[in-house]
Amino acid sequence: MSRAAVIGAGSWGTALAKLLGEKGHRVRVWSYEASVAEQLRERRVNEVYLPGIEVPAEIEVSTELADTLEGAELVIAVVPSHAFREVMKAAASYVPQGAIVLSATKGIEVDTLKRPSQILAELLPDNPSPAVLSGPTFAREVAEGDPTAIAVASRDPDVARHAQHFVNTDRFRVYTNEDVLGVELAGALKNVIALAAGIADGLRYRSNSRAALITRGLAEMTRLGLAMGARASTFAGLAGLGDLVLTCSSDLSRNRTVGVRLGRGEMLEEILASMRMVAEGVRTTKAARQLARTHKVEMPIVEEVHHILFEGKSPKRATADLMLRSPKPELWGGTDAT
Ligand SMILES: NC(=O)c1ccc[n+]([C@@H]2O[C@H](COP(=O)([O-])OP(=O)(O)OC[C@H]3O[C@@H](n4cnc5c(N)ncnc54)[C@H](O)[C@@H]3O)[C@@H](O)[C@H]2O)c1
Repeated sequence: MSRAAVIGAGSWGTALAKLLGEKGHRVRVWSYEASVAEQLRERRVNEVYLPGIEVPAEIEVSTELADTLEGAELVIAVVPSHAFREVMKAAASYVPQGAIVLSATKGIEVDTLKRPSQILAELLPDNPSPAVLSGPTFAREVAEGDPTAIAVASRDPDVARHAQHFVNTDRFRVYTNEDVLGVELAGALKNVIALAAGIADGLRYRSNSRAALITRGLAEMTRLGLAMGARASTFAGLAGLGDLVLTCSSDLSRNRTVGVRLGRGEMLEEILASMRMVAEGVRTTKAARQLARTHKVEMPIVEEVHHILFEGKSPKRATADLMLRSPKPELWGGTDAT
């Protein structure tokens, strides 16, 4: 039995805390919102972010980072990407020496284009090889015990194996991977493609369009990954194709849902104002477009999603512009993965 600190009590943090608690770890959770902490302490339920799911009574909940992190051997950072640096900066001095630090956040910092593991390495110089956890995992399905598989990556194979050992259960199968960049990029970028898949659904296009977006979306995600130094095989794995299929196909996906509403003609501001949970893909679209430009990689779907979200382009026009691009071979650019 080990001590684990889960930093973030949204849907995913709550589901991971439940999983770790049921595995027998002593778990403390940090909540940004005092009202959520109180609910979890008193009723064992997070009615805001994971309604109807009971967490084990032994899980402790705090709004103080120092309390949460004391004695932790595993630290899971699972706050939305826009708050990641701020929260982990405040947490850094309380992270115990030698703890395994694991990011479960999917996103890219818009101002710096940094991934969560890069931010962690910057804030925790004594802990240079943080791990990242990413794959096809809806919080609710994990919390309800559906068999699930996920990837954990770290530059240090020992850290990845330790993290795997901490988190793996008979319902939650964790695979190690050494490609931290690929796992994080795939987990972030798939949210942009999910917006596109939702937009197509909102326009009442059906299975052909979704399959085309998933496949060509994966091609452009992989193209960027390769240009940045990631491995193509990671994009064909759990964090890539796995999560992409999940997010583009299910009504549980917030990013897809935002896309559906955009496709039906709602404005982004009104959609976001009606949601309390984060749809990471909206911010990630800005970061992805910038990364594509920096690395001189063509990402036509990302480009069109950016036009729709931030430049007022109509989804119909964006679809037409995607379809009217100059005809191309399916595989081009010198590698089979493009
Ligand atoms: N929900 C899932 O199924 C799932 C699965 C895998 C990964 N993720 C990733 O996990 C991360 C967290 O997502 P989630 O779904 O748990 O979030 P959520 O939308 O369910 O909840 C948002 C959380 O962020 C907190 N928050 C809001 N503003 C904050 C701030 N300024 N500082 C600190 N905390 C703040 C809220 O209190 C809440 O706990 C995201 O990067 C997401 O992509 C989510």
